[in-house]
Amino acid sequence: MERFSVSGRMSEESRRSVPGGYSRNSFNFGPHAIFVTSGEGAYIETVDGHRLLDLNNNYTVNVLGHHHPALTSALMEAIPHGISFGNPGSQEGDLARMLIERIPSVEKVQFSCSATESCMTAVRLARATTGRTRIAKLEGGYHGFSDVLQISAHPTPENGGEAAAPASVPDSGGIPATTVDDVLVLTQNDLSGTEALLRAHGEELACLILELQSGAGGMVALDQEFVQMLRDVTRELGIVLVFDETISLRAGYHGLQGLYGITPDLTVMGKIIGGGLPLGAVGGRADIMDALEDGRVSVSGTHHGHKLSVLAGAACLTELTEEAFATLNGHARRIASELNTWSQDRNSPFRIHGREISHLGYAYMTSPGEAVRTHRDYWRIVDGEKTQTISLELANRGYFPVHRGEMSLSLAMTDEDITGLIETLKSIVSDMESETVTNAVRPATHAL
Ligand SMILES: Cc1ncc(COP(=O)(O)O)c(C=O)c1O
Repeated sequence: MERFSVSGRMSEESRRSVPGGYSRNSFNFGPHAIFVTSGEGAYIETVDGHRLLDLNNNYTVNVLGHHHPALTSALMEAIPHGISFGNPGSQEGDLARMLIERIPSVEKVQFSCSATESCMTAVRLARATTGRTRIAKLEGGYHGFSDVLQISAHPTPENGGEAAAPASVPDSGGIPATTVDDVLVLTQNDLSGTEALLRAHGEELACLILELQSGAGGMVALDQEFVQMLRDVTRELGIVLVFDETISLRAGYHGLQGLYGITPDLTVMGKIIGGGLPLGAVGGRADIMDALEDGRVSVSGTHHGHKLSVLAGAACLTELTEEAFATLNGHARRIASELNTWSQDRNSPFRIHGREISHLGYAYMTSPGEAVRTHRDYWRIVDGEKTQTISLELANRGYFPVHRGEMSLSLAMTDEDITGLIETLKSIVSDMESETVTNAVRPATHAL
């Protein structure tokens, strides 16, 4: 609070006009959000006069870092020619073709302003093309804030029900009970339980939507054989399989689905595809996407496929070559292997987890050797308070992470930045374990 006191004051002031102080209330970092004045490359400047290595990158959006010349010049060249047209230009098709070329399961794409909207479109497409109403999702999966999908991203031990048949829990007030009942919730990586539930409810289910590696509900990477089972069973039962790659598209040139080698029916995209401007997309099998053309499904938004967003998205993807993904994932592998080896050698419960892509998780487990395999492991074997302490200490020591225990790398980061991060995390964990740093925080509610 001392180090970021200007942010604290600004937060109090803006609370008078905006509920919680800022529209993006998921940026509450401990006592309040950290206000930022600018970003350059891998770093942000805060109103408090601190320069932080940005490990948040707007929850994984800024994969190139800040103020990237290719993005800036694409936008600066376009702006004098007008910024808002309902009429199409060439930009949208260019980005669509890039996504189709990269993601083999994507045959056609439709753009929106956010992944929340594109997840809604995916559900509507699945319902219209199957004639079914209910949907299935994984506990701990986040797919935006629509009524039908803001369910069981953050259940608690008190309301989550049994792991064998998780309860469908609304993550917000104002979601009708009938909508909650429309959602079948499944447990991540539970091979036999999930298959049994899908078979029992198969005929009612329009789609199964999932993140291959969850983010907002806590990082959990799905097992290869679990995802393969989901693909096989949904195909057999006629359930549309939707991969929500809003975050995980940054895993590689062909997305995270490319690393699994498993093909969904629909894919939702967001974050990096807008290059820092608001953009969401849904893409997939042409026979399903064609429902948007032949009148079976209607979806329309004033700013959908906004010229500047698709332009920035195309400029961003152009920079994201196979080589660029190799650099990002190389940094991720180095962070995971150096820190996990260090931690194991000293028998520490600190752990880097996830798929070793440029979106990594960190957690202080309740004992050494534990690993997160389902959302419920965050209740059972993650020390939420100590993990929060690490997040706050990172900010104190010059790094801005995703406070729930995640890091999102950018191409602007150098080897020296990564070395600094690894050494800082070691020193924070050592200080906590020698009790130089004590827990001073309540665990934050999981935010989006
Ligand atoms: C996997 C996933 N899906 C959907 C969304 C919603 O995206 P947006 O905030 O663009 O609506 C998010 C946002 O964090 C996400 O992580």
